[in-house]
Amino acid sequence: MYNIKKYICGSPFETNAVAENIAVSDKLPCYINISENDRVITYAMGKEDKVYGLGEAVRGINKRGWIYETYCSDDPMHTETKRSLYGAHPFIIVDGEKLFGLFVDYPDKVTFDIGYSDIDTLTVTVKSADCCLYIIEGEALTDIVKGFRRLIGKSYVAPYWAFGFQQSRWSYYTSKDVQSVIDGYRTNGMPIDAVYLDIDYMDGFRDFTVSDERFPNFKEFVRSAKSQHIHLVPIIDAGVKCDDSYSVYTEGRDNGYFCKDKDGNDFIAAVWPGKVCFPDFLNAEAARWFGMKYKTLTDMGIDGFWNDMNEPAIFYSERQLDKAIGKIAAYRGKNLGVYDYFGLKDTVLGLSNSAGDYSSMYHNVNGEIVCHDRVHNLYGFNMTKAAADAFVEIAPDRNILLFSRASYIGMHRYSGIWTGDNQSWWSHIKLNLQMLPSLNMCGFLYTGADLSGFGDNATEELALRWLALGIFNPLMRNHSALGTKDQEYFRYKNKDIFGNLLKVRYALIPFLYSEYRRAIEDDDLMFRPLAFVYRGDKLAEACEDQLIVGDSVMIAPVYEPNALGRYVYLPENMMMVRFKSDREYECESMAKGHHFVEIPTCEAVIFIREGKALPIVKAAANTDEIDLNTISFITNNDGGEYVLITEADKRTIKYRSTGEVYV
Ligand code: GLC
Repeated sequence: MYNIKKYICGSPFETNAVAENIAVSDKLPCYINISENDRVITYAMGKEDKVYGLGEAVRGINKRGWIYETYCSDDPMHTETKRSLYGAHPFIIVDGEKLFGLFVDYPDKVTFDIGYSDIDTLTVTVKSADCCLYIIEGEALTDIVKGFRRLIGKSYVAPYWAFGFQQSRWSYYTSKDVQSVIDGYRTNGMPIDAVYLDIDYMDGFRDFTVSDERFPNFKEFVRSAKSQHIHLVPIIDAGVKCDDSYSVYTEGRDNGYFCKDKDGNDFIAAVWPGKVCFPDFLNAEAARWFGMKYKTLTDMGIDGFWNDMNEPAIFYSERQLDKAIGKIAAYRGKNLGVYDYFGLKDTVLGLSNSAGDYSSMYHNVNGEIVCHDRVHNLYGFNMTKAAADAFVEIAPDRNILLFSRASYIGMHRYSGIWTGDNQSWWSHIKLNLQMLPSLNMCGFLYTGADLSGFGDNATEELALRWLALGIFNPLMRNHSALGTKDQEYFRYKNKDIFGNLLKVRYALIPFLYSEYRRAIEDDDLMFRPLAFVYRGDKLAEACEDQLIVGDSVMIAPVYEPNALGRYVYLPENMMMVRFKSDREYECESMAKGHHFVEIPTCEAVIFIREGKALPIVKAAANTDEIDLNTISFITNNDGGEYVLITEADKRTIKYRSTGEVYV
């Protein structure tokens, strides 16, 4: 049970984050203080209070001890001292002397100082006093999650095939490159369902075009990939290349669909293709126009997209560049001392995503001219909503895969997200794990990190360890940046091990998809921190590197190099399963408490909770070929029933203690 109070400060911008109508209260609960000018909220945290939420953010599952800003930011260096990443998710749960959720519905920057300036104080600051506050109270953590999720509406349902393994890389230049990736997986007997087309498939980085030279007969290529059970998933960028011979640009320009500068001219800045204009996704007509453009590709058989650079990312604008060049010129011939040198460096680095550019951009929202600053966090949301809305019209009989880089609360109704440009760092394996429950709290269930890391070079050991966690990411995609070491799994020396771990994923797909759909249906988490399940167990409550998946399985991946294994905390008696492949696994009963578990890189280890069971199937080369008749159970109980949710239906499967199923 939960109750939600809504409190309005000033004149908030209508964000569409919330899907339910809530009566407005005139008073916040007495434990929350709000300053005179409604900009600063404070709460005195108890010594033991924990704070969860914030979706895509650095640091642990418990967010206490740092300062975060919800502000969509194009920043590929996800170090522990960063304050914001690509998604803006201003929702937290305070769990301690008081238990409540707080959602600050405000599309510009919100600062969450969670014991950073003062170890015992939570301070939430908005830039201007125009926001809606929602306080969710309940008796259990799950009540708060459910209350919030009901408030913001049901999560997007991804297609079943999108739970298959997906390979990506920025620099598949030609259809031959793509085909050789497909062949690499297929000829090595490694399952795969999708290959991604990064910006190189386009003609000169123009959205909704395909290079004839590098991807000739594209429609036929898409068809041929489908016949090999491969979905091709192209990228769409927010910026539209300024080019008089490109119809998307001229249509947008002539109809006034682009964001403007302060004089009412199109706002122009540079991204991949050089100068671009940004479609005004907050203008309903412009959003519809852009959304309908996806038809060019759905007509060619495409059924999956990833929306990118939609914070929006800006490399530079002419105005900022001129200023910078002026400043840099002044340094010429000088003997640069330390401050000058830093000044020079900052001038160049400050060109991208500059505050000056964002405040020079304007939107037309139902006829009202709105400065981008006021609505920054809604840009990627509305780009993605535009696509999702259009799919209803242009592909009514297909469930299209869609996910985005930038996001705000509420966008989860339209798509998933991936967590952007991470790095091939060991710490990012752990970050991947920690983001999963935090994102779930904010409604993002179809989500995942770039496996093996986007930037930098992935070693074989890192790739294997990440894969053992990646098996559980709903969006299971290996992606890497231009110029990095190749990291397709078949390129490594021990490709058989990679293949076996991929087969473990395919054995688990019916289970993972069911738990995903159940989490959507029940407005619940698919990935739970141990703190949410084992209340009152201090060790479980403090556990930051293990998760419960659905409600039957615990995972505890290795995220350190040269590790023999790791310490695992079992909050109850469990059964450990060491998977070497889909059909090759060993079980061992283990007692509650701490254990050092040896985990070789060729194994994916999971733990089944007492009284629970895990359904598995025989792996297949792709999701189309998964045969549900091969389902059996690994049991840690005396048999029972499992409700399997497939894309088409729901069925109750009965199983015996031995794992076999019967009708
Ligand atoms: C951005 C995306 C990344 C993509 C690259 C080139 O950095 O986050 O995934 O590969 O752009 O399109």
